[in-house]
Parts: sequence; structure tokens; C-alpha cells
Amino acid sequence: MKNQKNRETDFAKGLEGIVSNTTRIGYVDGEAGKLSYRGYDIEDLAEHSSYEETVYLLLNGKLPTLSELEEFTDKLKGNRTVADEVMNRITHLPCPCHPMSMLRSGISLLECIDDTCRIAEDLEEKKEAGIKLIAQTATLTAAVARHLQEKEPVPPDPALPHGANFLYMLRGERAKPLEERVMDLSLILHADHGMNASTFASMVVASTLSDLHSAVSSGIATLKGPLHGGANERVIRMLTGISSIAEAEAFVEKVLAEKTKIMGFGHRVYKTYEPRAKILQGYAKKLTELTGNEELFEIAQTIEKRVTEAYGSKGIFPNVDFYSGLIYHSLGIDESIFTPIFAVSRIAGWVARILEYLEDNRLFRPRAVYTGPTDLPYVPVRERG
Ligand code: SDX
Repeated sequence: MKNQKNRETDFAKGLEGIVSNTTRIGYVDGEAGKLSYRGYDIEDLAEHSSYEETVYLLLNGKLPTLSELEEFTDKLKGNRTVADEVMNRITHLPCPCHPMSMLRSGISLLECIDDTCRIAEDLEEKKEAGIKLIAQTATLTAAVARHLQEKEPVPPDPALPHGANFLYMLRGERAKPLEERVMDLSLILHADHGMNASTFASMVVASTLSDLHSAVSSGIATLKGPLHGGANERVIRMLTGISSIAEAEAFVEKVLAEKTKIMGFGHRVYKTYEPRAKILQGYAKKLTELTGNEELFEIAQTIEKRVTEAYGSKGIFPNVDFYSGLIYHSLGIDESIFTPIFAVSRIAGWVARILEYLEDNRLFRPRAVYTGPTDLPYVPVRERG
């Protein structure tokens, strides 16, 4: 093939900047620092929408009418329950098993018992299975969190909206209105984000026409990594390991001098302050004031100011994980559950993009440039040195 050699040496490690497909689901403008779902700016959705409405938008491509929203909300509520066969196994897993591994195991067990999730090519069937999984992932995650606290799962409350019910299942009692608002907002902000690693992984699995549960399991497995969804857990460990503003100043000078990666900063696409971090920062301030964690917010601000001074010119700013951890910590949630909460939200984006891609499926199969030896003679084992 003409220019085969030149073509092969021209590759993008990690598919950086490579376009793999078209989409109408969401758009990330890294230079402008803008994010939209189906054409609606994230600021408007954060301000006016709900997680239920946002999921409907991502899956259906339009904002629902009132009756459509009520019907969809009821469908999510009606699918929150997780079968005892799964709950009993999940809540008897050995601890310490990482909650993301427990969540991934729960999704896999749901596949084993749920007869609707054949390797279905019927996209409507997959969509219904996806809506059910979106509802169940919150229930599973709350059960995992309580298992780690040696507490029994709390059954979902059908009277509560998704985010408020999730907090209720975590705590066993209603949260305050601001806390419920912040959880709903965080679920909206984390729902979709272009071809991030976990979305890409779930689409690769789905492109083989494997089942949805397997695709979602691969998304969870991918999100667990600290370079992706696992960063928020490390951010809060960093922040709570600092006890004063002075200590924060010394800490950040040390990491800058050592050039170590600071969790919660930087992004493959955003090269300016990203909109989700900006929105979460405002609510983190409000929530830390409500819960008496103001100093933790000031410590975060100290680190943000100095890192942005040092690295802003390189396009390194706080990302979504920098403030989400502070928010979940202020909600009294254990840091090990921060990344599972990311999955509780992002499963909507995974399902939406899987369904969209399957409308015109093409098996993902990139290539690699071979740089090893060729034409080696085989030497019998007794003759090898
Ligand atoms: C998420 O893709 C998505 O959309 C993901 C996400 C989503 O919603 O799905 O937005 C969620 O995953 C947010 C990111 C959470 N991860 C972290 O906070 C971990 C810390 N961040 C870094 O590991 C890093 O910023 C990445 C992995 C997020 C992105 O890095 P890239 O694009 O691979 O950039 P790189 O590692 O090649 O770094 C480029 C330069 C390097 O310096 P030089 O060698 O050029 O001098 O920027 C520096 C890096 O050292 N750099 C950092 C840094 N991130 C990049 N330096 C210090 N601290 C950091 N956090």
C-alpha cells in the first residue's frame, strides 16, 4: 500500500486526538472550556434540570414534556430494586474489596439473573435494559457503601427523586434540601463527557454485540483508575491530609518542585478552567459552610490558586474531580464511594453512547505499529543457551 511505512509510523499513542465516530449526544470544547449535552449548555442543565430529565435528554435527544418526564421518572423508580440473589452475594463479599470491584461484580451478577439481557441487537430492548441498569446502579452502590460500614442495605424510597433517594439509601434517613440539590447537580454534571476512557471502553465492548451489562462492567472497571474516575478519592485524601493553610502552601510548593502529578488537576481535552469544576466549586463553598468544613475549602482554594499560577500557562486547571471529592466528603460519604458515585451518574452517558453507536455499528479494531524482530529461526529448547 502506498506510503504504508510512513503511514504506520504516524500514530497517536492512546488514540490522543483521534476521532473514532460522530455523535449528537454531547460536546466538550476543550479550548473554550464548554460542555453541552444534546446542544444544551451544562450551566443551564445544572441550574434548571434534574438527573432524571438529563438522562431522558441523553437517551432520547430532546427535553421531555411534563408527561414524558413523569412517565420516565416512574420507570426509573420502578426499576430501582435489585434482586435478593444479587444483593445477598454483594453484601457478603469479603472486605476490604474495592467498592468499584463490588459494583462491577454486582452488575455482572445482574446479567446472570436478568433474562432480558441476552446479546440483544434489538436497540429498544437494550434501551429498556439500560434504563433499568441506570436505576439499579444507584441501589447497588448504596448497598456496597453500607456493606463496607457493616450495615444492612436500605430499600429505595419510591417517593424520592433519584439523587435524594440515593442519599437516603446511603444514610437511612432523608438528607437536607441543599444536600439533595448538590447530589442531583453532581449526577447531572458527571452524566456524560465525550469519548472519555470509560465511555470508550464500554463502546468497544458493545461494538462486538456483547450484552449491555458486560459493556457497563467494562466502563466501571475503566473508571476505577486514578487517572480517570479514581482521582476524586485521591484529591480528598490529599486535602484532608493537610491541616492548615500554611501547610497547604508548603505542600503545593513541594509537589511543584518535585513535578509530581497533582490529583484533580489537568485534563486531556480541557486546556482552560472546565465548567463542571467551576459549578462544583460554588456548591462546595456553600456545603462546606453548611457542614463546618470551611477550612478544607480554603485549603483547596490555596492549592488551586498556586497550581493555576504555576501551570495555568500549560493549560492545567482544576478538573471535575478536584471539587467533587470535597462535596462528597461534606456529605459525610466515605472516600471509597466517591468513584462509585461517578459511575452512578456516568452510566447514563455510557448507555446513551452505546445505543447511538449501535445504530450504525462498526467493530472497534485499531492497529499497532510492530517494532519487534521478524523472521527468527525456531531453536529447539535443548539447543537454547
Ligand atoms: C476525568 O477524559 C475525560 O473526559 C475524563 C473526565 C470525564 O468526565 O470522564 O473528565 C473525568 O478523568 C478527569 C481527570 C481526573 N484525573 C486526574 O485528576 C489525575 C491527574 N491528572 C493527570 O493525570 C492528567 O492531567 C490527565 C491524565 C487527566 C490528562 O493528562 P494527559 O492529557 O495525558 O497529559 P499528560 O499526562 O501527557 O501531561 C501533559 C503535561 C505533562 O507535563 P510535561 O511532561 O509536558 O512537562 O502536563 C503535566 C504533565 O506532567 N500534567 C500535570 C498534571 N496533568 C498533566 N502536572 C501536574 N499535575 C497534573 N495533574
